[in-house]
Amino acid sequence: MPPDFEPMEITLRDGRRVLVRALGRADEDELLQAFDRLGANARYMRFMHAVREANVPRLRRVLDSFPEKGLAIAATVPAADGIDIVGSASFVLGSGGDDCEFAVTVADGWAGAGLGSALMTALVDAARRRGLKEMTGFVLAENAPMLRLAIRLGFAVKRDPDDYSQCVCRLGLGGEAAS
Ligand SMILES: CC(C)(COP(=O)(O)OP(=O)(O)OC[C@H]1O[C@@H](n2cnc3c(N)ncnc32)[C@H](O)[C@@H]1OP(=O)(O)O)[C@@H](O)C(=O)NCCC(=O)NCCS
Repeated sequence: MPPDFEPMEITLRDGRRVLVRALGRADEDELLQAFDRLGANARYMRFMHAVREANVPRLRRVLDSFPEKGLAIAATVPAADGIDIVGSASFVLGSGGDDCEFAVTVADGWAGAGLGSALMTALVDAARRRGLKEMTGFVLAENAPMLRLAIRLGFAVKRDPDDYSQCVCRLGLGGEAAS
């Protein structure tokens, strides 16, 4: 199954340009470098606990499961060693096959320019094209920027009744899952 995502160039609010494309196993090193560059607060917000090192086996498992079990996209810019990943977003299919869970991260020096919104918009579009019915994400209740972003994109945001420290963001995609 080829990744169902056409690369696109995006100009951010501050004029910087990024290429957004699907990620695969070959991007593991760049993803690990991007993780290393991420500040402690962004890591905490993304993983919802303090994370000092990337979980490489888990990253490999997830990348290997794509595109069948989900999709990861990244915004890249040219760098001395080829490219740098400055933002990424992914969804992983739920066990029912017609819903998915998202995650998104923007590098510290790239926040506030519309990249998080652009990545999430592209991710939602890709999930819709796949015929998925619902996208969900778990976000720390203190993560105001992400909650505002989700609400702007139309997600319904509610406190998680099972864990009051986090919110559940839900967006109906209106689709029929492709078999
Ligand atoms: C949450 C996160 C993804 C947001 O990324 P981002 O690139 O800063 O998001 P955006 O730039 O799209 O939006 C940020 C702000 O810029 C503003 N903005 C973006 N584009 C704009 C535009 N064209 N015109 C005016 N304002 C704009 C937005 O309104 C928003 O402001 P607000 O937060 O006051 O509402 C980023 O902070 C991050 O990676 N955090 C750590 C990881 C994380 O928390 N992940 C979520 C859990 S999965």
